[in-house]
Amino acid sequence: MSMKQMNSKISSQNTEKPILELKDITKIFSNRGHSTTAAQNVNFRVDPGKVVALVGESGSGKSTLAKLITGIERPTSGSINFGEWAVESLRSRNLREYRKHVQMIFQDPFASLNPHNTVLYTIVRPLRKHLGLSKQDARNRAIHIMETVRLTPVEQFMDKKPHQMSGGQRQRLVIARAIACEPELVVADEPVSMLDVSIRADVLYLIDELRRTQNMSVIYITHDMLSARVLADEVVVLYRGHVVEQGRSDEVIKHPTHPYTQLLFSSIPNPYRHKNKESVDTGQKFAEFDVPIEMKVAQDMVSNSGCPFASRCPFVMDKCLQTMPPLTGNQDHLTACYR
Ligand SMILES: Nc1ncnc2c1ncn2[C@@H]1O[C@H](COP(=O)(O)OP(=O)(O)O)[C@@H](O)[C@H]1O
Ligand SMILES: [Mg+2]
Repeated sequence: MSMKQMNSKISSQNTEKPILELKDITKIFSNRGHSTTAAQNVNFRVDPGKVVALVGESGSGKSTLAKLITGIERPTSGSINFGEWAVESLRSRNLREYRKHVQMIFQDPFASLNPHNTVLYTIVRPLRKHLGLSKQDARNRAIHIMETVRLTPVEQFMDKKPHQMSGGQRQRLVIARAIACEPELVVADEPVSMLDVSIRADVLYLIDELRRTQNMSVIYITHDMLSARVLADEVVVLYRGHVVEQGRSDEVIKHPTHPYTQLLFSSIPNPYRHKNKESVDTGQKFAEFDVPIEMKVAQDMVSNSGCPFASRCPFVMDKCLQTMPPLTGNQDHLTACYR
């Protein structure tokens, strides 16, 4: 049985069975005696057909999690399960097989496309290579995919190369390539943050449409709480490698309880704060937030086992400096805060 058949079997028998599950994932990078904890005891699951958003500012460990999930990096400890596969221990052939089922969309579409390849070839290639389709079948299917991502009229786009396209069209091509072999999971790492503000919503709505029509799950990585609200079923809020809040997105968005999540919402741009920035008028919907960095207590007052947000938290208490609060609440909404 193929992975896809297996997963659709699982999902029709038991909708509770996740497609992907991270259990207690920790990743520590060590460079010349200096170590960085990019992820600390992260747990979450992705259910079939659902969108999970990983939200946090730069350096919170989002891309590291994406690399662990796609097998580019290995965790220091913990496990990542995808169907019957233990992703953290996949090697060579199995890893290649796994990557047909889990595709990645990167921030910079230009950098992730081969400048010499035409649109048609870019989509045909994985179809030939991974699915073994004939030339004609691959071409027909590629044309269908171009229509799906609206790189149309197809005849106008198929011979174009990346430099002949706009940023939004290039990202549509990256998306087309990612969905070509019908992956069960797509990991999109800040897929719109390099695009013009005016076309971000279009690309996000395309991703939303695809997950509904193509029966795939999405891990949507963003530093923008508002776009998470539009796309996600579940939200995982990360701060310096720690999950500080997670749960159903309507719960977390309606009642954010961690001071950091509240800060993310309160820093959703208002026209006054962004007076001097380009994104003033279009910024309301998908703008980048900009978190004020105000230290309440010096970072070196916080022990390594303390809350990572303590130094910036307006409600910091003594015990926050000593021990990271555990995630508490119910399955729909967990928060790591003593308040
Ligand atoms: N290969 C690496 N070696 C050392 N440190 C790394 C490496 N990759 C990421 N980091 C560090 O891990 C932390 C999380 O980085 P990253 O996952 O890229 O965050 P984000 O995507 O949320 O901006 C950062 O402090 C970053 O400097
Ligand atoms: Mg990143």
